[in-house]
Amino acid sequence: MEFYEVVESRRTIRDFENVDIDDAVIERIISAAMKAPSNDHMRDWHFIVIKDKEVVLKLVDKIPKKVSQKSISGVLKNWNLNDPCQQNVYKDAIPKQYRMFAEASCVVIPLLKQKTDILQPDNLSHLNGFASIWCSIENLLLAATAEGYAATLRIPLGNEGEWARTVLRFPDDYLMPCFIAIGKASPNAPQLKQIEHPLEKVIHRDSW
Ligand SMILES: Cc1cc2nc3c(=O)[nH]c(=O)nc-3n(C[C@H](O)[C@H](O)[C@H](O)COP(=O)(O)O)c2cc1C
Repeated sequence: MEFYEVVESRRTIRDFENVDIDDAVIERIISAAMKAPSNDHMRDWHFIVIKDKEVVLKLVDKIPKKVSQKSISGVLKNWNLNDPCQQNVYKDAIPKQYRMFAEASCVVIPLLKQKTDILQPDNLSHLNGFASIWCSIENLLLAATAEGYAATLRIPLGNEGEWARTVLRFPDDYLMPCFIAIGKASPNAPQLKQIEHPLEKVIHRDSW
């Protein structure tokens, strides 16, 4: 796929077909992730790839499996999510958070070496490692798209990150920024409308 076609077709997908993914495909996707820019020139990233369903189910066990309509409405209200596009994405996404990992062809856990307390940064540089791994994650998402796969991600909430460390046994000085699910998009997977921002409104030439 041509680069801009990949960029245009990458979408977050939370409904997957039950199919296998070749290790060679995963390796190409992670190789793309490893090519991202890194702040300290170290690319000190690791990727735990989980295909074993038993391990996947244990890993995502702390993610709520059923969410009532009432609690979805509560989230929309508490987080002040008033835009209809935004509301539709959350209404679709919240109930699928567990299932999307359970049904994916594989789950990938990216890890970065975090030398300072990510939640107590003194300055923006302390977030550089975190910013770099997100560059790497975008490469991964685009590469998955180019390979004909789709992906979604979840930011670990509550104790989900620490539980992942226990299940996967990654070292204390590595931080997991998100869970990633990769799989073949189900034909029924919705492509949810996103807010469009006309370029003339976001590009500021020479000054704001
Ligand atoms: C930093 C970040 C955090 C996200 N967290 C979640 C999440 O916890 N659960 C989820 O289902 N999707 C999550 N997403 C995916 C977004 O919902 C999705 O990217 C957004 O709706 C735009 O849709 P698109 O990716 O199809 O363009 C996250 C995306 C980003 C970049």
